[in-house]
Amino acid sequence: MSKQPRPPLSPFARIVHWGMVAALVLTLIAARRWLGAHAVLGMITVLTLVVWVAWLALFRRQYPPASPIARYLLPAIVVVFALIPVLGLIAYGGKYASGPLSGLLNGWTGLGQAAAVVHGPLVLLLLALLLLHTIVAAISKLRQRRAA
Ligand code: HEM
Repeated sequence: MSKQPRPPLSPFARIVHWGMVAALVLTLIAARRWLGAHAVLGMITVLTLVVWVAWLALFRRQYPPASPIARYLLPAIVVVFALIPVLGLIAYGGKYASGPLSGLLNGWTGLGQAAAVVHGPLVLLLLALLLLHTIVAAISKLRQRRAA
């Protein structure tokens, strides 16, 4: 845990972080209604995740984990977050014969169906981790304000 007060996030980092949240919400809204839009939004969400993780890696000295729990929570979120679209792409290609993997997964319907079964429940795990992340971030913000 860092004792140094952390600088506020740069405008670029804020845009990427909140853009990622917005893309995730839109992906979830589209999930059960519009599969094509859902797949595109899901891939946009992943792109924002990649930029966010790259930014965190570049500036990790200025922004160390705010608490011991955040040290484990953030990698767990990134792993689960990254797995969801990978399984989504396999489901979309194998079960629905659509998307960039449809040619590659032609005939792998069973794999597509298996990926579809895991894809949805993994989202519940991600949402639980994100809730925990929000609580931890709010507590650490409160502590910083009290210390200032
Ligand atoms: C962060 C990104 C994503 C999130 C949060 C997400 C979330 C969800 C959710 C909540 C469902 C509904 C599950 C259910 O009905 O039980 C779903 C279904 C689905 N998603 Fe995603 N998804 C994401 C990315 C993607 C991507 C990138 C693709 C494909 C390119 C994709 C393809 C699918 C497919 C094919 C289904 C239907 C699965 C089925 O047949 O049950 N998803 N997704």
